[in-house]
Amino acid sequence: MTTHIGFATSQGTKPSSQSLGRVFESRRRVLYKGGPSVTPVGFGTYRIGFSKNLGFPDCVNALESALRKGLNLIDSSSNYGHGQSEMLIGKTITKLINENIIKRENIVVVSKVGYIQASNIELAKSRELQGNGFQEISKFGDETWHCIHPDFIFDQIERSCSRLGLETIDVYLLHNPEYMLKRFELDGMDVEEARALFYSRLKESFIALEKLVSTGKIKAYGISSNNLGAPQEEYSSVSIKKVHEVAKSIFENPNFKVVQFPMNWIEVSPAFYDIEDLGESTLSYAQKNDIGVMLNRPFNAMFNDGLIRLTRPQVNKEDMDKLDAGMKLGLENWSKLASDLERLAKEQLADVLGYDDATLSQIVVSTLAWYPGVTSVLCGVRKEHYVDDVEQALARPSLPRAREHLYGIYENLEFST
Ligand SMILES: NC(=O)c1ccc[n+]([C@@H]2O[C@H](COP(=O)([O-])OP(=O)(O)OC[C@H]3O[C@@H](n4cnc5c(N)ncnc54)[C@H](OP(=O)(O)O)[C@@H]3O)[C@@H](O)[C@H]2O)c1
Repeated sequence: MTTHIGFATSQGTKPSSQSLGRVFESRRRVLYKGGPSVTPVGFGTYRIGFSKNLGFPDCVNALESALRKGLNLIDSSSNYGHGQSEMLIGKTITKLINENIIKRENIVVVSKVGYIQASNIELAKSRELQGNGFQEISKFGDETWHCIHPDFIFDQIERSCSRLGLETIDVYLLHNPEYMLKRFELDGMDVEEARALFYSRLKESFIALEKLVSTGKIKAYGISSNNLGAPQEEYSSVSIKKVHEVAKSIFENPNFKVVQFPMNWIEVSPAFYDIEDLGESTLSYAQKNDIGVMLNRPFNAMFNDGLIRLTRPQVNKEDMDKLDAGMKLGLENWSKLASDLERLAKEQLADVLGYDDATLSQIVVSTLAWYPGVTSVLCGVRKEHYVDDVEQALARPSLPRAREHLYGIYENLEFST
């Protein structure tokens, strides 16, 4: 596959003079000081390329359509679709560059390192057999291992760049580094000891990532963690301030520029939970320190070990007829929940123009994308009509009082406690 040289530039990602009427392009905002601008919605590729229900072509069409419309942020990881996500992104970017629709400097590509699964686990196991295994691996059974050791990072960056067909990845994130803490917890390690070891290993990883910046393999780095902003009492919580301090202990102005974490109408702690030693929320800390924030899982909210989908179900009559009674009941309950959520959100936005006919998913996107400190919301828009839906969300008026709206929605959710 062709390797594209270059990276997303501040100039190449700025809305152009012809962006009027192109919603995605006109809404772009700066990811971090001196860095590229990105659309307030990014294309999340977690479920791309390996679903049984959705073939490869649908995902390609959705990604291609999004890029043609001016969406310019794509989020991936080495383990998404066992590498197929990165390959699909590489193929699509190449096609659109060859057609002169986009240039490399227009598109911000994010990938991640940390998980060892599928072919990577075979690689790790065979290296162990040969006596040169990767170090500091956290093992969770036979199929999922995790590692953020420098040697593993140096190995994985080459594989990701090759699958993506890129010389440089714009943002490279350590993927759920809290797995190390989870392992320590299972091993019964004292929490303070575990945290000290975790942050000291994180420093070694960040030194490796700084090396990758200096050699031009990546432009910026950070972490993606499900536990950023989680209450400190949780053993495997990760503090944005401590992570930032680790980066600043390497360089005064480190290339640590971006964080990613889940946030939605139910999982709101990064916005509303004041971290003990911080006196402010994770989002507020990020905003004050010019750290770009990408939210993930906007529609998939974890609640009481279950999952609540914050969208309206879309099933056509033909598919509906094929469902058994239990499935039909489940769908009815989901539709009712969606109607209740939509009504509640519209009450909270009653005095805001332009939201009367908004879909539930559009209000979710808007309340998150306009929340202070949020740079972009990563959405799993793997069907073309999802891309159109989020585009319509961004075409609606901005929400300067997003904090108030989100708080109002959260406070009035019946299952919020
Ligand atoms: N730790 C991490 O680093 C981490 C963790 C989670 C997510 N992420 C990133 O964040 C991205 C987003 O998260 P996600 O894909 O898990 O969840 P999501 O964006 O909340 O989407 C969940 C599901 O909602 C449906 N959907 C998406 N857009 C829709 C729309 N406009 N209208 C109606 N339904 C819609 C899709 O379901 P169907 O496809 O079933 O129709 C999608 O799979 C991921 O793809 C990934 O890039 C990163």
